[in-house]
Formats: sequence, C-alpha cells, structure tokens
Amino acid sequence: MSSPKESSPAPADWVRGPVADLFSSYVATAALSTAHQLGILDQLAEHGQAPFGNGGDDRLSDTVVRSVHRTLHWARVVEIKDDEAVIPGPLFAEAYAARGYFYWLVKGCGELFSIAPDVALTERRTGDFYHRDMRAVAVGSRLIGDEEVEPLFDRILADPPVEKVADLGCGSGQRLIRILGNHPGARGVGVDISTAAVRLATESVESAGLTDRITLLQGDVLALEPHPEFADVDTVTCVFMGHDFWPYDSCVQTLRRLRTAFPAARRLFICDVVRTSDLPGPDTTVFTLGFEAVHALMGDYLPTLDQWHEAFGEAGWECRTVQPTTTPPNGYLFELIPRAD
Ligand SMILES: C[S@@+](CC[C@H](N)C(=O)[O-])C[C@H]1O[C@@H](n2cnc3c(N)ncnc32)[C@H](O)[C@@H]1O
Repeated sequence: MSSPKESSPAPADWVRGPVADLFSSYVATAALSTAHQLGILDQLAEHGQAPFGNGGDDRLSDTVVRSVHRTLHWARVVEIKDDEAVIPGPLFAEAYAARGYFYWLVKGCGELFSIAPDVALTERRTGDFYHRDMRAVAVGSRLIGDEEVEPLFDRILADPPVEKVADLGCGSGQRLIRILGNHPGARGVGVDISTAAVRLATESVESAGLTDRITLLQGDVLALEPHPEFADVDTVTCVFMGHDFWPYDSCVQTLRRLRTAFPAARRLFICDVVRTSDLPGPDTTVFTLGFEAVHALMGDYLPTLDQWHEAFGEAGWECRTVQPTTTPPNGYLFELIPRAD
C-alpha cells in the first residue's frame, strides 16, 4: 500500500474543491465577524442593500471593505451587483442570525487559534499564556443568548416576580437591563472578573438610564463572599460562564459558596453549553467545535450534563427544571433551589 506522501494528488485535484473551500471558509468566517463589527450586516438587514466598498465613508478603508464584501459574496452571504451595490445573498438570513457565534470565535477568541501550536507545548501553558478580547466575547455572547435564552428567561422569571437579581459573569450587562425592563420595581447587581466586560456593562447600564437600579462589581465569582449588595438578592442568574466553576471539586465549592453569599436567594439559574461526547461529523452544530477547541486551548474543563447534575446534588441545590436549548446547541438552562437541609 502506498503512503499518502507517495501518492500525493495532482494539484488540480485540490486547488479547487473541498480543501480549497476549507481555506476560504476560514477567511469568510473572519469576514463575517468584521462585517458585524463594522455594521455592514445590520445595514443589510435593515435596508436590504449597501454600497460596494466604503460608500464614500473615509473612516473606513475602501480596499478592506471591498475585500470583506467579495469574501462574503464567495460565501453566498451577500451578492455584489454590477460592481456597485451589495445585497443579501441566499445565506444572509442564517448568517445574520448566527453572527454572534462568528464574532465570539474570531474577534473574541481568534488569537488562540494562531498560537495553538505554541500553547500545545505543556511548558508554555503557565501564567497568562493567552489573550482573549473579553469585550467581543461579551458582545458575541449577548447575541448568542438573544435568540432563545433571553425569551426563556423572560418566561421563567415572570412568576414569582423578581425583586432583586444578581447576574454572575454579567458580560455586557444586557440581561440585567432586560430583566429590570420586565420587572419595573426590581434592582440588580452584576459581577464580572473582566475589566473590559465591566466597562461595557457600565456603558450599557448608563445608556439604559439604570445606574440607580443596577450596581456593577468587578470580582471573581469563584471566590464570592457575603456583600451588602447580595443580602436581599432573591434570584441569581449565571449564563455562559458556569463552565468556569469547574473542575468538579471547584464547582461544588463554588455552588456551596453561592448559598452563603446569597442567603436570601430563592432560585439560581445556570445556563451553559455542555461538552459533547460523540465524534464530530456531518451533523455537528454551529459553535460546538469552536467552543470545545477554545476551552481545550485555554485549559478549561468542560463538564457533561450528567456531571452538572452530580455537582448540584453534592452542593445542596435541587434541580427543579432543565430546559435544553437549540441555540446555543448543547445548551441547558437549569433552575435550582436551595435544598432545605
Ligand atoms: C461567555 S461570557 C458570558 C457573558 C454573559 N453572561 C452573557 O450571557 O452574555 C462569560 C463572562 O464570564 C466572565 N467570567 C469568567 N470567569 C469569571 C469569574 N471567575 N468571575 C467572574 N466573571 C467571570 C467573563 O469575563 C465573561 O464576561
């Protein structure tokens, strides 16, 4: 039998086709993320067309915007018409709905992929061995949650109504703003470890005119102590950061600590994506490979669904309901109440 090296295919077999498409897909993924941040996707969603290139806006490089447009044309997300205008392409609606995943991956976590071969070396995996753009992670996460998770929260938090909510790993702060919009007398407190996320949340809370009702604290959720702001919190939410509680012993300890830090909490909601066990294949969902690869690169443990249930039980939380989500794929919203003992 000949080795792949001896029987290497003719260049004509791979300069076009699946392998060439893999290469171009990487560029298109980056272009989608860029188009989101530059407002190109929103403009197309709202107005149904945009000029090809920067449209005379000299703050943007015409060459770069044209390159983004051309790449998205390749991806069938847009169509370039007569070298003048850009309109939504056959895949625009789906790509627009999924834009948060692309922004999270490329702008939020992209650097991890370029340094992957370096940080694969165990000796390189100490200290601050990687960097992520936490503002982009927070913005991407907000977009990911908007589709299904936030409406789920609207329904589940309606009764009993919230009086004071704490959002752990609050990111952009949008969840607190939304909950307070639904519960006009309520107050909120957000905690996040990242300076960039707290800054973004502060801007969002200010522009929503809610500074008198929402307090933002920079802190580590894994080391929370009782705090005057926490004393009367009845509802605790934690979305897309629960995996940071892990590995197992640390998770149990953090879940127990939350009972002490929030002595009046009636309900704790944890919503997160769990690790899959099957080999990836044609049915692999958007996000899954990226989410698992990024956390492998960072050295973060991702729990399975069964492991979450084991940790809840050991930490003194009773899981009342579990709601699976389609977006994000492999996501679950756990509703927990403190066990009487
Ligand atoms: C994926 S983002 C999710 C943001 C937000 N919860 C949402 O649903 O859009 C995770 C957030 O958790 C924060 N985070 C991670 N580990 C944390 C920790 N130990 N303590 C506090 N915040 C943490 C990150 O800074 C980031 O803003």
